[in-house]
Amino acid sequence: MMRHLLTLFDLTPQELRQILATAQTLKAKLKQGERPAILERYTLALLFEKPSLRTRVSFETGMNHLGGSSLFLGDDVGWGKRESPSDFTRVLGQFVDAVACRAKSHERVEQLAEYNAVPIINSLTDLCHPCQAIADVLTLLENFGEVKGRHMVFVGDGNNVSRSLALACAMLNIQFTLARPDGYELDQPWLDRILAKYPNAKMNQTADPIAAVQSADAIYTDVWTSMGQEAESIARRAAFKNFQVNEQLLEAAPKTARVLHCLPAVRGEEITDAVMDGPQSDVIEQAGNRMHAQKALMIQLLRPEWIAENIRV
Ligand code: CP
Repeated sequence: MMRHLLTLFDLTPQELRQILATAQTLKAKLKQGERPAILERYTLALLFEKPSLRTRVSFETGMNHLGGSSLFLGDDVGWGKRESPSDFTRVLGQFVDAVACRAKSHERVEQLAEYNAVPIINSLTDLCHPCQAIADVLTLLENFGEVKGRHMVFVGDGNNVSRSLALACAMLNIQFTLARPDGYELDQPWLDRILAKYPNAKMNQTADPIAAVQSADAIYTDVWTSMGQEAESIARRAAFKNFQVNEQLLEAAPKTARVLHCLPAVRGEEITDAVMDGPQSDVIEQAGNRMHAQKALMIQLLRPEWIAENIRV
């Protein structure tokens, strides 16, 4: 059966754990100079409507490590402009084995998946960023050995990144708190969807970041103004001014708390240089984990039997 990853709802908690274990295995092998060619002869297309450093390079390099190849498709292929979505997707499916897609709207990625021509991997939409969240929980796992019962505090907007992170936390029994100004909550339909599937999920929202981080194992932040929200930047700067991840906030957290950011960051806005470059920061390792996580995800979608035969959770 063809599998897509449009949101993390497309995975079971057991599959997410298998992906994390596979990522850890592949990362350890890479450190020893080993690059098992598990996806030899497979081809990944990257269909991107928005800019990217981490997602694009981690998918392309990851596919290369696995013995496969990738190609980047920008504006010139005319997605949604030159031919019908059905023709576009089914033709793409004649050439490649999977498509990683970054789109301005989630509906565009859903539409690609509709024709079941080829597995589609959501590489960021306005709704969510599932690949980012897998790398985020991988980073938490590396720090703490086991993530169950840990507390992730996201200081920032109820946006695509925090939506996926909240869901990943629910799947792995990680407590999730969003510290945000009033008006920037996680939307109720998404929360309801998480709670319908994971009724025991511990999710809170608060306007008090200092109180929120007091029991944090990880403090996560993201830009106050995401791509496409530029017209709101002045209002957002004002709304989030007390939600900066800075030395004062870190003082209120346990000394063991780790600092995460999906990047790119606006230094001096949502996070200070001292915190970003400080000893509790994992932001660069976290970015590197995008590649290990996505290698494992691609194997899960294209060759799940390899994980079943080689990875024990
Ligand atoms: N975090 C993230 O998705 O980075 P890019 O936009 O550079 O891909």
